[in-house]
Amino acid sequence: MTRSDASRPTRILVTGGAGFIGSHYVRTVLGPQGPGDVEITVLDKLTYAGNPANLDEVRDRPGFAFVQGDICDPELVGKLMAEHDQVVHFAAESHVDRSIDGGAEFVRTNVVGTHTLIDAAHRAGVKTFVHISTDEVYGSIDEGSWPETHPLEPNSPYSSAKASSDLIALSYHRTHGLDVRVTRCSNNYGHHHFPEKVIPLFITNLLDGKKVPLYGDGGNVRDWLHIDDHVQGIELVRTKGRAGQVYNIGGGTELSNKELTGLLLEACGADWDTSVEYVTDRKGHDRRYSVDCTKIRTELGYEPRKDFATGLAETVQWYRDNRAWWEPLKERAAL
Ligand SMILES: NC(=O)c1ccc[n+]([C@@H]2O[C@H](COP(=O)([O-])OP(=O)(O)OC[C@H]3O[C@@H](n4cnc5c(N)ncnc54)[C@H](O)[C@@H]3O)[C@@H](O)[C@H]2O)c1
Repeated sequence: MTRSDASRPTRILVTGGAGFIGSHYVRTVLGPQGPGDVEITVLDKLTYAGNPANLDEVRDRPGFAFVQGDICDPELVGKLMAEHDQVVHFAAESHVDRSIDGGAEFVRTNVVGTHTLIDAAHRAGVKTFVHISTDEVYGSIDEGSWPETHPLEPNSPYSSAKASSDLIALSYHRTHGLDVRVTRCSNNYGHHHFPEKVIPLFITNLLDGKKVPLYGDGGNVRDWLHIDDHVQGIELVRTKGRAGQVYNIGGGTELSNKELTGLLLEACGADWDTSVEYVTDRKGHDRRYSVDCTKIRTELGYEPRKDFATGLAETVQWYRDNRAWWEPLKERAAL
């Protein structure tokens, strides 16, 4: 079969598909609400953040395949590109605190890995490459929101490596005409979130009767996006977006870390005085992120559907019901 054979399903290579957002993308697209005309191969190295259990639900679905491997491996990546029509690229080192402890793996995976993938995609004639970037590439903003045209001013080794990969991806559109589409989304939350990140860390600590570590004065503000809405946005960009374009994706719920902590305490039945421990602020901690989502709303009809109260209650319930998923991860990562 050739790439131009319109009668067969679209073959999508999903990198990082065993992680938090990538696995939700795969479960959704291959699930009953999915488009129905796609096959997915997940390419994932299974780092500490990759979990094969996240894909149990789809493992036996027709059209699903899993390849354990590194996006920095040109031979493997070249072979896979030749067999796929589209790429949705999630794979990355994703934890800011780890990048502050050491940025080398972030440069390797996020920068070199993205270049390896996109260069192979160009050479193999892949039709569409969706690069999952982040709002953190814009830096920090005290007031207002960033449109997609705002200059990139990243601050952490994580966001700087993501900004580099974002620009490398766009350069393949401008230089080679490859159909590259970039999404820059805000902070995601939901089930299957690795318990080093603030929401699952706080929930699981509180469920265990432990304290939660609140950075600095707790005044840092983030926009929260439920993974269902993120996947909705990515699918709109993959199926209806335009080549060479960047799309911000947000959830519309801005909260300071202090406000978020209050909601999590309430949801877990814990109180502030016995459960919150103020800790030294993260180095270079960005104060506020806020994306302007006018473009994806007006151009592609994106609308976040999950209200934060419902999404958070469901997420807390999932962690209550799924100790077998997160307890070994916390133990292994000494969290
Ligand atoms: N989580 C968020 O709130 C958020 C917000 C904005 C953007 N993003 C971006 O979304 C993407 C996915 O984030 P996530 O939270 O699901 O991350 P995650 O850390 O949960 O998952 C990353 C996945 O990539 C895999 N991986 C890492 N290095 C690899 C390599 N060299 N080769 C192949 N696979 C490799 C890991 O095994 C893991 O399965 C990332 O690009 C991240 O920058 C995340």
